[in-house]
Amino acid sequence: MNKITVESPSNIALIKYWGKFGKQFPRNPSLSFTLSKAKTILTLEVAKKNNQDEVVDLEFTFAGKSNDKFKAKMVKFLLEEKIHFDHLLQHKIIIHSENTFPHSSGIASSASSMSAFVFAALKLEFTLSGSQDFSDENFLNKASSLSRIASGSASRSLFSGLALWGDYEKIGNNDWAVGVEHLVDPRFKNFRDAIVIVSAEEKAVSSRAGHALMDHHPYREVRFSTARERLSQLLLAMKNYDLETFIKIVETEALDLHSLMMTSDPSFILLEPKTLEVIKLLRNFRLTHQIPVCFTLDAGPNLHVLYPAEFSEAVDTFLLSLNLPIINDQVGFGTTVVSSDN
Ligand code: DP6
Repeated sequence: MNKITVESPSNIALIKYWGKFGKQFPRNPSLSFTLSKAKTILTLEVAKKNNQDEVVDLEFTFAGKSNDKFKAKMVKFLLEEKIHFDHLLQHKIIIHSENTFPHSSGIASSASSMSAFVFAALKLEFTLSGSQDFSDENFLNKASSLSRIASGSASRSLFSGLALWGDYEKIGNNDWAVGVEHLVDPRFKNFRDAIVIVSAEEKAVSSRAGHALMDHHPYREVRFSTARERLSQLLLAMKNYDLETFIKIVETEALDLHSLMMTSDPSFILLEPKTLEVIKLLRNFRLTHQIPVCFTLDAGPNLHVLYPAEFSEAVDTFLLSLNLPIINDQVGFGTTVVSSDN
């Protein structure tokens, strides 16, 4: 195999990863829905290397154009992790990548793009090395672990439905994420995520800088233990399909993430007045129509509106009334191979 095309989705965290240590280990375990339509499609091809003295010979285009920022990220990653890509790095690597969603839309592009890149690179490495003895589980653990190093949240994108990353009982560990949809009610497979675009402006704080704010945050210890407790409560609520508790925890967790940013030094306010307006309207809609719909937020002003598919008609009408751009997505299946040349 010299060429492979993969698709990898973004994900939206219900329990947030916010704060890290060491080689990109999380301060608390996180849990996310894997998305379906918001994804990166990436083709990785190897050719003859021109200069054997160069450790990484990489050509990269994003949406048909060269992109030095992304390229630098990938080169840095391959240099640091070269021990895992021995055979791949003996070749010239040509990558074409594109996203199905717009930039700065409240959809984590590093999660989809980095998981797609690592997954494709590792698949090719395994084939070039003639490795036979890796079960799917071992491959996924390794792909998730290396994706984590590229971008923490990317470790979760590989898995179908629901993924957990971080030390947690006997289920999760800090090194790689695991798929946990079997631990919850199957109806969560039919959840929708409508992303309400309040602002398409570039984020005021990168996640890297955001995580660093937790290093000296006055509430850090409370935050890390609360996130862990919430994870247990949320998994139990999801097992029992207790949507009232699900809604309470998911919304509190989203608001906590922003509260932490507001009370950091320096302080960041990433919510827009419109974000709060939509939250109030949504809560009012929930109450008057008795529909189990809730929101979560990434490190930005855009809202992810979560609800069971059977309430789509009513929720769609509500979302239309907001008069804002909406990206309709739903819970999906994780990283997959689209094609390979053998
Ligand atoms: C708020 O995974 O983007 O979306 O590890 O520095 O690449 P890096 O950070 P990143 O952080 C995501 C933060 C979050 C919460 C979450 O997805 O869990």
